[in-house]
Amino acid sequence: MSLTELEQLQAENATLRAQLDDLQQRLVQAQKLGAVGSLASSITHEFNNILTTIINYARMGVRHKQATIRDKAFDRILSSGQRAAKITTGLLSYVRNRSDRKDILSLKQLVQDILLLVEKDLQVHRIRVETRFVGEPFASVSAGQLQQVLLNLIVNGRQAMEPGGTLYVSVGPGSDPEIAEIAIRDTGCGIPTDKLQKIFDPYYTTKSVDAQGQGGTGIGLALCKDVIDAHGGRIRVESVVGRGTMFTLKLPMAPAPVLSVRPEVAQKVG
Ligand SMILES: Nc1ncnc2c1ncn2[C@@H]1O[C@H](COP(=O)(O)OP(=O)(O)OP(=O)(O)O)[C@@H](O)[C@H]1O
Ligand SMILES: [Mg+2]
Repeated sequence: MSLTELEQLQAENATLRAQLDDLQQRLVQAQKLGAVGSLASSITHEFNNILTTIINYARMGVRHKQATIRDKAFDRILSSGQRAAKITTGLLSYVRNRSDRKDILSLKQLVQDILLLVEKDLQVHRIRVETRFVGEPFASVSAGQLQQVLLNLIVNGRQAMEPGGTLYVSVGPGSDPEIAEIAIRDTGCGIPTDKLQKIFDPYYTTKSVDAQGQGGTGIGLALCKDVIDAHGGRIRVESVVGRGTMFTLKLPMAPAPVLSVRPEVAQKVG
């Protein structure tokens, strides 16, 4: 092979690599949108309920002249509006947050933000959620990526349980004080031992595409593993057929960021 041929092959190789990277990133984004897409109908439903509440209380306020009744109506309108705003903010940040930049974030907060998005969907599928937060561990994470992992695990749990069941979500320190743990446990069908080794393989799936054309690509858990590995963490699974499955994410803890500066220090700095 001549030198020019070799150079040509190297250039082609580099182009193919760049294309592969690009396609991989698109796949991740498509998976992310697919996961949140499965929540679209329940979120729309929830918005309808919020609007109905707002409209009913606004009517009540218009009809009644007493201050106490109007105050109550305003309170309800305000809290409903705030809930709607929280959901849209959460949804937008989930969809827009494509960067892999890591920040020191509260794992409890990240989990709570995702639970807000899935709450209605789980309710529609008659799934109860039980949460347990011990302390407030922080870790250096990419918010968008970690939320994608959490959403994948929750959607998997929901799919394994339908209809009914309980999803247990906990956040706290692990047995090693330097490691934070997020556990997501379902009371679903469980995974047989021979299949347990395959579930993190890309494209391994036992599901078929649902009526909305979603699910069953088998990249959810492969992606979860990649993300957690890239965060220096570990993902563990325990499962009992007929009883349920628990996924545990172990992430190195980071010191909580210092948010406020004492006034005397601020003055000295200023
Ligand atoms: N909580 C769970 N309970 C039972 N089986 C599970 C659970 N989570 C994953 N699995 C099994 O692991 C397989 C792979 O999961 P993964 O999330 O990677 O893909 P998927 O859910 O099939 O498709 P996708 O997430 O891409 O829509 C699933 O098809 C299912 O057989
Ligand atoms: Mg999945």
